[in-house]
Amino acid sequence: MEDKVQALSRKARQEIGEARTLEEVRALEVRLLGKKGEVTGLLKGLGSLPKEERPAAGALVNRLKEEVRDLLEKRREEIKARQKEASLQVPPPDPTEPGRRPDAGRLHPITLVQEELEDVFAGMGFMVLDGPDVELDYYNFEALNIPKDHPARDAHDTFWIEEGLLLRTHTSPVQIRAMERFPLPIRAIVPGRCFRHEVVDASHEHTFYQMEGLVVDRGISVAHLIHTMKTCLRAILERDVEIRLRPGYFPFVEPGFELDVNCPFCGGSGRKGDAGCPVCKASGWIELLPCGMVHPNVLRAGGVDPEEYTGFAFGMGLQRLVMVRYGIQDIRLFMGGDLRFLEQF
Ligand code: DAH
Repeated sequence: MEDKVQALSRKARQEIGEARTLEEVRALEVRLLGKKGEVTGLLKGLGSLPKEERPAAGALVNRLKEEVRDLLEKRREEIKARQKEASLQVPPPDPTEPGRRPDAGRLHPITLVQEELEDVFAGMGFMVLDGPDVELDYYNFEALNIPKDHPARDAHDTFWIEEGLLLRTHTSPVQIRAMERFPLPIRAIVPGRCFRHEVVDASHEHTFYQMEGLVVDRGISVAHLIHTMKTCLRAILERDVEIRLRPGYFPFVEPGFELDVNCPFCGGSGRKGDAGCPVCKASGWIELLPCGMVHPNVLRAGGVDPEEYTGFAFGMGLQRLVMVRYGIQDIRLFMGGDLRFLEQF
């Protein structure tokens, strides 16, 4: 028995010393001290010894058991200490690792489309103009053929600042400012922010973006308007487009039109699978922007002789175009500041 105890003691000492992980220590513990373990086996074997040898042999095996338990415990502590040390150690810097790139942010989808439009129109010889957000009644209404008592004023839920001063309700006032300031011919676009006292819902915002267009020259006709709008929409929607003009009323154009584009979601068929297309309400057309031939009174207000010159103008809702382009259903997302939305562009 003494030999067996010594042999097992040696073996246990070596194996425990070689254990590298807590799992290995645990496995050894089971193998040595478990119910069917080797040390337990020796204890069970005591019964087969002659009676007088049992007390001495029992003491030996019990000492072995204590010894193994202590060894296992010590090894456990060592492994834990080493793991802790390793976790505290900072790995040496790796000079080949690429640098951490700070998130530089990105352009808002309205800005993206606005800049694309600016490029397209610059390619056709248009200037890009700016105008004040705080505007005079004169430019916002009066000079655009909307006098004080005109019912069209009711359609613009205006934020008034004080008598004669307001937050511009559209970008059209810059038509007048452009004609006052620049010599003819004029080709200009005016992207910018507009304000209306609207009840906010999925398609209305109190602060929104328009892009005005104005062309004034000798012999300008509806044909120029159609060609310009087709060129612009083709570039932005990245496909060939069909457009149609329906009559529309705006005091500063005559004739005035509503321009529709064939629906990009159903290809103009009005159908989506078995059902009607939800985006164009099964009509195959999307109402995109109002436009028309500049009213003679507006040309006059800008100091241009309507007998000699004609022009066309359009007022594009930038958000509307962005929504059609990206399939965005709710206008409130633009100003909502939700990064999950903004990071998609
Ligand atoms: N300014 C108009 C609005 O916001 C839109 C508009 C219509 C602009 C016709 C135009 C135009 O230049 O020709 O309601």
